[in-house]
Amino acid sequence: MSWIFRRFRRATLDHPQVQPMASSSTLPLASGGRPYIFGESEGEISRLDLQHYMFRWEFGGDYLAPLDAPLNILDVACGTGRWARDRAREFPQATVIGFDINQQQLEASLAEGAQTGIDYLPENCTFLVGNALEPFSFPDGSFDLVMARATSSFIPVSQWPAVIGHMTRVCRPGGWVELRDFGLVHSPHSALNELTVKFANLAAARGIYPGAGPYLGDYLRAAGLRNVQVRQAAVRSGGPQRATRGGRLMLADYLALLDRVTPAIAQAGIEQAERWRALLAQARSETALQPDYCYAEVELTAAIGQR
Ligand SMILES: C[S@@+](CC[C@H](N)C(=O)[O-])C[C@H]1O[C@@H](n2cnc3c(N)ncnc32)[C@H](O)[C@@H]1O
Repeated sequence: MSWIFRRFRRATLDHPQVQPMASSSTLPLASGGRPYIFGESEGEISRLDLQHYMFRWEFGGDYLAPLDAPLNILDVACGTGRWARDRAREFPQATVIGFDINQQQLEASLAEGAQTGIDYLPENCTFLVGNALEPFSFPDGSFDLVMARATSSFIPVSQWPAVIGHMTRVCRPGGWVELRDFGLVHSPHSALNELTVKFANLAAARGIYPGAGPYLGDYLRAAGLRNVQVRQAAVRSGGPQRATRGGRLMLADYLALLDRVTPAIAQAGIEQAERWRALLAQARSETALQPDYCYAEVELTAAIGQR
């Protein structure tokens, strides 16, 4: 399948520096010159799909921003492009753009969607390849909503203000910037906790903090945005307070994520691959067999600010 690229319908949205035809072997590397922490493969598409529905179910929708007939929407580091495709269907009058550093993942997800016949690529949706850690190649004030979801996986802590600065610049006055992200996962389960601590160490070695959720509101305020609103949702896969609606999706997503970092954990010398896999197997079986005692919980944050 060839790379799908549509020209903007509105001439004002020019993007000369984004390279839709770039070959993935020449793409810039995420997070300070290192490969993206979760790697690349089609398994990642399913994991991101789980995550998409978890966010939707726990917040009761895909965005908090009060949108009124938006004309232009941007999804930063759009992953599979599912969020952007959904917005394009919801707002047929709008032009929706998603960009990500991983062209192959986008293409594979679009191909998968096309096969179903239902999850087609809407006419008003465009995907580009681009690096969110560099200045965005869109004119000032282009978008009614600029979304970035689950981007703590690659934005180094030191670069959050710059990335939110780029998002704010391309948002139109009166438009909204929205961030959705995770806190750190907690669990009374010893294997799961050990995995979480070691995963956080791996992330820290790359300058990233995968639990950025609680800081999102402050980031938006620091960027000068007004009317900042923050919502949090505690997601649980089980335990005394019972599972929340997206809890099983969260656990499946988290276990898949921990599985994906196995090579990086071993390469960094944090844990041997064999022991990491054994801990994972233990966490998988005990959370499945004893969800009342062996569970995971995490706080999600959604934050919006108006330009
Ligand atoms: C955890 S996923 C979230 C994807 C999407 N926002 C979602 O919520 O489904 C993080 C995404 O960031 C992308 N990514 C990693 N480094 C990037 C960079 N420097 N610029 C743009 N995208 C990047 C990855 O390819 C991946 O698709």
